[in-house]
Amino acid sequence: MTQRGQQVVLVTGASVGFGLATAKLLAQRRFSVFGTSRRPDQHRELALQNGFTMLELDVRSDESARACVEAVQSQAGRIDVLVNNAGIVIFGALEELSIDEARAVFETNFFGVARMVNAALPIMRQHGGGQIINVSSLGGLIGTPGEGYYSASKHALEGYTMALRQEVKAFNIDVSLVGPGFFKTGIAQAAQPAALKLPVYDGMRERLSRYLRHNVEHGADPTILAWLILDIIESDNPRWRYGAGVDGVWLARLLPFIPRTLGEPLLRKVMGVEDSFLYRWLSRDWGK
Ligand SMILES: NC(=O)c1ccc[n+]([C@@H]2O[C@H](COP(=O)([O-])OP(=O)(O)OC[C@H]3O[C@@H](n4cnc5c(N)ncnc54)[C@H](OP(=O)(O)O)[C@@H]3O)[C@@H](O)[C@H]2O)c1
Repeated sequence: MTQRGQQVVLVTGASVGFGLATAKLLAQRRFSVFGTSRRPDQHRELALQNGFTMLELDVRSDESARACVEAVQSQAGRIDVLVNNAGIVIFGALEELSIDEARAVFETNFFGVARMVNAALPIMRQHGGGQIINVSSLGGLIGTPGEGYYSASKHALEGYTMALRQEVKAFNIDVSLVGPGFFKTGIAQAAQPAALKLPVYDGMRERLSRYLRHNVEHGADPTILAWLILDIIESDNPRWRYGAGVDGVWLARLLPFIPRTLGEPLLRKVMGVEDSFLYRWLSRDWGK
C-alpha cells in the first residue's frame, strides 16, 4: 500500500541488470517501486525480497503496456516516475540481419518506450506532473559495428526523448535520458546472433563479439546507474542527458572534438572490425 507522499516508480525490465539494481535501490530509499518482467512468476520472490512488486510486461505489445500501467494505477493510484529500461541487442553485421530482426530490436528498444510513455502520460498529466527517464546507450551517440540496429534504435530514442522533453514540459513532466557505457549485466549473454552468417564477416564477427563480451563482463557495476537514476529523480532541474560509467561520461564529452579521420580508423582497430596489431595487443589476455 502506497503511503501518502511516497513517490511511485515503474521500472521496465527489472528482473536482472540495470532494472533490478534500480528497483532495488529505489525500494531501499522508500519509493514505492513496481518492476516488470515478461516472466514475472520467475522473479516475484526476488522482487519481494528486494521490496518491490513485480508485474508482467512485454513492451512489444500495446495491450501489455496498457495493462501494466493500469495495474500500477489501480494498486498505487498514480505513477510519478517511469524508467524505460527494458532493452535487447541483436548481434551481427547489418548485411546479415533481416528487416524482421531489425524490427524486433526497434519494437523493444524504441517502440517499447513509446508504448509505455503513451500509456503513462495521461496518468501523469491527471496528477499534475511526473518524470520519465529513458535508458539509451553510448551506442545512441556512436554507430557501433556488430550492433548496428541496436545503435540505430538508441539514436532514434535520443531524438524521441529530446522532442518529448519539449512537448510535455508545460505539463510539469521532466524527461531525461541516461547513456551508459559498458556495464556488467546479462545483456551480452542475452544478445541474439543474426540468423544468417555470411562467411565474409566471420573474422570481424569473432573479433567484435570478443570485444563486446569482454567489455560487458569487465564493465562497471550496474548499481552506479541505479544511483545516477536516484540522483536524477531527486534533482530539482534534471538535465536532458546524463552519461554513465567512465566511458559513457568521457567518450560522450570528447566525441564532438574527435575528428572523424582519427576516430573512425581508431574505432575499427580497437573494436576489431579490422584485424590489426592494436586489436591483437589489446585482446592478448582475453582468451576465447
Ligand atoms: N549493460 C550495458 O553495458 C549497457 C550499456 C548501455 C545501455 N544499456 C541499456 O540498459 C538497458 C538494460 O539492459 P541491461 O544491460 O540491464 O540488460 P539485461 O541484463 O539483459 O536486462 C534486460 C532487461 O530487459 C527486459 N526485457 C527484454 N525484452 C523485453 C520486452 N520485450 N519487454 C519487457 N522487458 C523486456 C528483460 O526482462 P525479462 O527478460 O525478464 O522480460 C530484462 O529485465 C537496455 O535498454 C540496454 O540497452 C546497457
